[in-house]
Amino acid sequence: MTDHRPLLGGLNPARFLADHWQKKPLLVKNALPGFTSPISPDELAGLACEEEVESRIVLECDGPQPWALENGPFDEDRFAHLPETHWTLLVQECNKYLPELVTLLEQFNFIPNWRIDDIMVSYAPAHGSVGPHIDQYDVFLIQGLGQRRWQISTDPVADDNVIPGIDLRIMRDFQPTDEWVLEPGDMLYLPPGVAHYGVALDDCMTFSVGFRTPTVSELLTGFLDEIASGLNDRQRYHDPDLPLQTHPGEITAGARTRVRRIIRDAMADNDAIDQWFGRYITESKSGQTAVPPEQPLSTDEFLQQLHATGALWRSEYARFSFIDDGADEITLFVDGQARPLSRALTKPVALLCDRREITAGELGTSLNDEQFGQLLCQLYNSGYIELPKDGEQ
Ligand code: SIN
Ligand code: CO
Repeated sequence: MTDHRPLLGGLNPARFLADHWQKKPLLVKNALPGFTSPISPDELAGLACEEEVESRIVLECDGPQPWALENGPFDEDRFAHLPETHWTLLVQECNKYLPELVTLLEQFNFIPNWRIDDIMVSYAPAHGSVGPHIDQYDVFLIQGLGQRRWQISTDPVADDNVIPGIDLRIMRDFQPTDEWVLEPGDMLYLPPGVAHYGVALDDCMTFSVGFRTPTVSELLTGFLDEIASGLNDRQRYHDPDLPLQTHPGEITAGARTRVRRIIRDAMADNDAIDQWFGRYITESKSGQTAVPPEQPLSTDEFLQQLHATGALWRSEYARFSFIDDGADEITLFVDGQARPLSRALTKPVALLCDRREITAGELGTSLNDEQFGQLLCQLYNSGYIELPKDGEQ
């Protein structure tokens, strides 16, 4: 069902995953033939002035503080007073604000969508850079305007290889092992931990498709917080069979076994872990949620409109994933909420999670299923799916 069609410069997805994903960098010249930025530098600056948009400016300076970081939202005025060269504006989650980027994201559907974080867009005049650094996540860097020279180093980076005393993690010492100049449509894939340094050669825009990699600490604390919140104070360590101890000062093997059992039992339920993870990984990280339509619809009204518009779009404000563990029901996760559904709906639910734009024709006879019709209507009334307006397709 998953459609791997227009893939990035003829890249073979299975080979990419086997040889490069999380392993080694890959340069793909002309990965997106004809790709140009759907947003101008001025429009990007406009976005960075909006309250709900996360943005930053990184400036390379003379003097004792070689780099400076400013966080948005910015006053329009700030852009009039920036130097001619040596700065970068970075705007996160641009896939939420630019519908054109949804088509770009679809090209990465050879990687599970719950792993994808966002598309960050940067603009830099000549010499603009954010300095040599490492990221903890995989990234595809796509050139959208002008030229950028990328240098990378596949050598390990020591924890203390950072410029001290600045708000950014920029490497003190960077010795490149490879170098390329990227032009619009070219793409560079970097696994986590590979040092990279991109410098704009002229007016330059870069589109970074970044990935979501929860830390082990986030996974453990997230899951355990949820378990703990379902417990009450009466559920405690108990030892009605306490034997007389030789050393009252000792934590005995029996006590240690009881404590280990409490902790292991709490983590033993695979289904509880899966359900928690589905909700956790589809939650919005920024806390921004979809906006419900002004006019909620009944299921019949919704289905009528879907047939009339011929397609539905998923909101970029909601993350969709599903789990099929072979049980009678599958679970659809949308924006941190779990919805158990009949196994008979696996095909349309998978389609809904796999793709961002779906035609009524592709949903086919599933639209006659009452439970599925109600589900789509609820998702629409919550703002998680949208119907294109006249002329938008
Ligand atoms: C940029 O777009 O300038 C920076 C992207 C990155 O290094 O991760
Ligand atoms: Co980076």
